[in-house]
Amino acid sequence: MPLLVLGQGRDLASERGVECPGDLPAPSDPDLVARARAAKATLGQQVFVLGHHYQRDEVIEFADVTGDSFKLAQQAAARPDAPWIVFCGVHFMAESADILTGDAQTVILPDLAAGCSMADMAAIAQVDDAWDDLVDAGIADAVIPVTYMNSSAAIKAFTGRHGGTICTSSNAATALEWAFGQTGGVGGTGKVLFLPDQHLGRNTAVRDLGLSLEECVVFDPHRPHGGLTREQLQAARMILWRGHCSVHGRFSVEAVEQARRDIPGVKVIVHPECQYEVCEAADEIGSTERIIQTIAAAPDGTSWVVGTELNLVQRLSQMFPAQQIAFLERSVCYCSTMNRIDLPHLVWTLESLVEGRVVNAIKVDPDVAHWARVALDQMLALPGVTSKD
Ligand code: 13P
Ligand code: SF4
Repeated sequence: MPLLVLGQGRDLASERGVECPGDLPAPSDPDLVARARAAKATLGQQVFVLGHHYQRDEVIEFADVTGDSFKLAQQAAARPDAPWIVFCGVHFMAESADILTGDAQTVILPDLAAGCSMADMAAIAQVDDAWDDLVDAGIADAVIPVTYMNSSAAIKAFTGRHGGTICTSSNAATALEWAFGQTGGVGGTGKVLFLPDQHLGRNTAVRDLGLSLEECVVFDPHRPHGGLTREQLQAARMILWRGHCSVHGRFSVEAVEQARRDIPGVKVIVHPECQYEVCEAADEIGSTERIIQTIAAAPDGTSWVVGTELNLVQRLSQMFPAQQIAFLERSVCYCSTMNRIDLPHLVWTLESLVEGRVVNAIKVDPDVAHWARVALDQMLALPGVTSKD
């Protein structure tokens, strides 16, 4: 399948103080696999490698656990005996792992430039200003923040300070029901400020909770008062932050319609970070873990087109050869920041640990970590939330 390679978002390497590894192995080194195996074997139980489903195959091969962002957060917390957690994913996931693990553990992100363009669309100063706007509109007391895992630790801490919860794509409906339940229920008058992915917020509120599109407004942090009048804020039930995923935002309704024309009987499954119209046109929506489980449970011979990150879709077609699996849209490519973690970075990270050097440690400020943990713990305590949701 031809691929168009597109840039996604800012490269925050310099802003995050990236260590520039002079001794990063060359990608052409034929011994990379053997070196990674040897280093991992030497480290044994001391290292625990987590791999998000969007990681490259060459990295997933060395993951002790693979999963969606919720399962990986749970797994990071479930291995208190491992001093080093190597997180093959993106920066916000490694931050969450640092918050959920013990003080004696160190979380490592093999390439500090592996950020997330969506998470970067909500800066803490913008979110604090937005809250002031809600106070000025006289509605802040009725607003509970619900923040997607794809956000900085500072935004998670804001959520904890204001009595809200974190959610992932696998438990967003439960999180929203809980949040509305704090202020009189879905049928009441309370409101949710949903950060930073407008699409996950809208899809969940409308498709799962039955709110109307008119009850959702979009708060644009680049416009005064979010570009909303006092009356619009007062009438809204869902205040959606104007953020999106640069990968999933590109899938289109036209691609779904084209797939239905090209492949009779095809089933379309997409991630809830896709636009509302795309989710409406699809047959199924789900988190990365849910997409895998749905396809695994389907009968042989089922045809799928999948609207999520390309590394996962390619892996799905290898995992389930008895099903026909295609990528939803040709002009959408890999998540460029997920792809920054490659085998040379993993080998460098593991070999550095063998030599007694901890590189690219992710350490969240203690006060931020405290309040972010409050919001993460609220998510982990939501009723019925498990990694299999
Ligand atoms: P999951 O929570 O489904 O793993 O998704 C994370 C993500 O970054 C999707 O773009
Ligand atoms: Fe962020 Fe989108 Fe990449 Fe997920 S796929 S890590 S939301 S940029």
